[in-house]
Amino acid sequence: MIKAAILTISDSCSQGTRRDQSGPAIKDILISENIDVGEILILPDDRDQIAARLESLCDAGDTDIIITTGGTGLGPRDVTPEATLSICDRIVPGLMEASRAEGYKKTPRAILSRGCAGIRNATLIINLPGSVKAVTECMQIIGPILPHAVKMMQGAGHD
Ligand code: MTE
Repeated sequence: MIKAAILTISDSCSQGTRRDQSGPAIKDILISENIDVGEILILPDDRDQIAARLESLCDAGDTDIIITTGGTGLGPRDVTPEATLSICDRIVPGLMEASRAEGYKKTPRAILSRGCAGIRNATLIINLPGSVKAVTECMQIIGPILPHAVKMMQGAGHD
C-alpha cells in the first residue's frame, strides 16, 4: 500500500490560533484513493524547519508521498516551494502545471500558487495551496495519478 505523509504549513495553525482543515481534507481524499496516511504534521512558515522535516521524512525511507498544504502564495512568509526545492534531487513540474491550468478554469487566482513537486530519494513531495477548496480541486487532478507516479519512482515499467 502506498504510504503518504501530510504536512500543514501555517503559522496560525502551528500556534494553535487556527484549526487545520486542509490537512484532514487531504487525508480523507488519500484514504478514498486507498493510500495509507500517517499523522498530519503542522509546521510554521519557516524555511529551515520545513526543509529539515521534509528531508528527514524522505531519508527515513518509508514514505512514498508527502503532500504539503499552505505557504505557496505570494505572501512574505510563503516559502514552502523554496524549502521543498532546496532538498529535492529532481523536479516534477507537470503535477502543479496541470493543477494550476485546471484550477484557473475555476478561479484565476489558482495561478498565484507557486507550489512545486519534486523527488528526494524515492519520495515524491507535492506542494498544494492552503485552502480546503484549493486542496480539494488540486487532489481531483493529481490524486488519480499518484499510484502510477509511485510505481514509476520505484523503477517499475509502464503497464
Ligand atoms: N487553486 C485552486 N485550484 N483553487 C483555489 O481556490 N486558491 C489560490 C491558489 N490556488 C486556489 C488555488 C489562492 S487564492 C492563493 S493565494 C494561492 O493558491 C496560494 O495559496 P497558499 O498561500 O495558501 O498556499
